[in-house]
Amino acid sequence: MSRTNVRSRKALLEYLRDHSPVIAPSMLKCDFANLKREIEQLESADAAVLHWDVMDGHFVPNMTYGPPLIEQWREITDLPFDAHLMISNPEESLDEYLEAGCDMITVHIEAIPHPANILKKIRDADRVAGISLNPETGVEEIEPYLDLCDMVLVMSVHPGFGGQKFLLGSLGKLKALRKMKGTEIILSIDGGVGETTISEATQSGAIFFVVGSAIFENSDYKRSIEHLSELAQNSIALS
Ligand code: DX5
Ligand code: ZN
Repeated sequence: MSRTNVRSRKALLEYLRDHSPVIAPSMLKCDFANLKREIEQLESADAAVLHWDVMDGHFVPNMTYGPPLIEQWREITDLPFDAHLMISNPEESLDEYLEAGCDMITVHIEAIPHPANILKKIRDADRVAGISLNPETGVEEIEPYLDLCDMVLVMSVHPGFGGQKFLLGSLGKLKALRKMKGTEIILSIDGGVGETTISEATQSGAIFFVVGSAIFENSDYKRSIEHLSELAQNSIALS
């Protein structure tokens, strides 16, 4: 499906369900000196979306990139862009992320404790709205906003860096969210996801997996994505 067909929120949600389990490469771990080639390889590997980790050096102790670069990368590929905003005051720059062409936008409840307005704005712009929670934050913090979300991104590491160990406490949150909303919301997990952790995350309810190291530390992206997708597929069938 070309990007032109997934420009609307509704079409993108259908696309994500059709492609689930979704293995979303976390571009934080890619070779930025050769970004165009990396994206071409991910397209050949049938990646369904690209996950962009936006860090401001304030909400998290690391800095990455923002709207001007994302806008340029938007020209390279038709794949949907999933922007994970690890930034303070996301409402101040939301318009810039929308204009840069992000198709999915996730904000952190710790950065914006009353996210109703920002989630509505994302949906009003016909994009997929997500909310994320850090390892120390309980699901009760986001519960009042679940009806305004299309996706929940459960952090299974402390945000800021790739290559960390998967925190098992995230599994209980996935299960609790699954119980609250069934399959109505896309449950996503981010951090330390790889071949030893993806099955349990799937059994706990995740269908969208953000993966950095377990893709980019292997040279054959297609094989890594296929393998992770198969592991998730098998766990869905068993659960
Ligand atoms: C962490 C980021 C993740 C991370 C994933 O703050 O949100 O997307 O880079 O990388 P791995 O898979 O290496 O944990
Ligand atoms: Zn992320």
